[in-house]
Amino acid sequence: MNEFVLNHPLITHKLAILRNVNTGTKEFRELVTEISIFLMYESMRDAKLEETTIETPLEKMDTGILNEDNYAVVPILRAGMGMVDGILKVIPNAKIGHIGLYRNEETFEPVEYYYKMPDGIENREVIIIDPMLATGGSASATISRLKQDGVAKIKLLCIVASPQGVQCIKDDHPDVQIFCAVVDRELSENAYILPGLGDAGDRIYGTKKRSPSN
Ligand code: PRP
Ligand code: URA
Repeated sequence: MNEFVLNHPLITHKLAILRNVNTGTKEFRELVTEISIFLMYESMRDAKLEETTIETPLEKMDTGILNEDNYAVVPILRAGMGMVDGILKVIPNAKIGHIGLYRNEETFEPVEYYYKMPDGIENREVIIIDPMLATGGSASATISRLKQDGVAKIKLLCIVASPQGVQCIKDDHPDVQIFCAVVDRELSENAYILPGLGDAGDRIYGTKKRSPSN
C-alpha cells in the first residue's frame, strides 16, 4: 500500500478544530505542528537503525540509533513551512531543502519559483511536506524535480488529501509513499478540497480574512 491514512479519534478531533472557519491563526499553526508530529512518527516506521552499544546505569546493551543525516525534509512553499516545526520535533537534525511552487489560478498547474536543496540530496531519503494534496500537481512536480536530482527514496506527508490527489501521485510516482491525516470527499470546481480547511497558506500566515469560497 503506498497510502497511509492516520485513522485515530485524536486526529479527527484535531482536524475538526483545524477545519473550523472560526479557528484563529495561532491555534491553526499549533494544530498543523501537532498533526505533523503524528504524520512524521508514522512515516518513520520503516526507518533503518544503526547498531550501537550503550551503557545504562545497570549494564551494557546493544540497541539501535537513527542517523538523522540520512534524511532531508522538503517543504513546498509556502504552506509546507507550517509543518516544519512538527517534523523537526521528531528528527531535529534533518537537513531542510525548499521548493517554491504556486498554482496557476486558471490552469491549476504548478509554477516553480524557487529550488534549493542540501548538499548530497541524492544520498538522502527525502520527506516532502505540504498540508494540502488537492489535484496533486504541486506534489507530483516536486517529486519529479527531486528525481531529476537523483533522489531515490521519497515520502510525501500531507494533512488533507483529495481522492484525485492521491490517485495522481499513485499514477505519476507509484514508488512514493503518501502519509496523510485524512482523505476528504472531493475537489471543488476551483480545485479546493471539500470539505477541506480552505487555503492552508492563508490560514497559516493570516494573509486573508477568510478562506476563498468554493
Ligand atoms: C497549496 C498547497 C499545495 C497546493 C496543492 O499551495 O499548499 O502546495 O496548493 O494543490 P495541488 O495539489 O492542486 O497542486 P498554493 O499553490 O495555494 O500556494 P501557497 O502555499 O503559497 O499558499
Ligand atoms: N490548496 C489549499 O490550500 N487548499 C485547498 O483546498 C487546495 C489547494
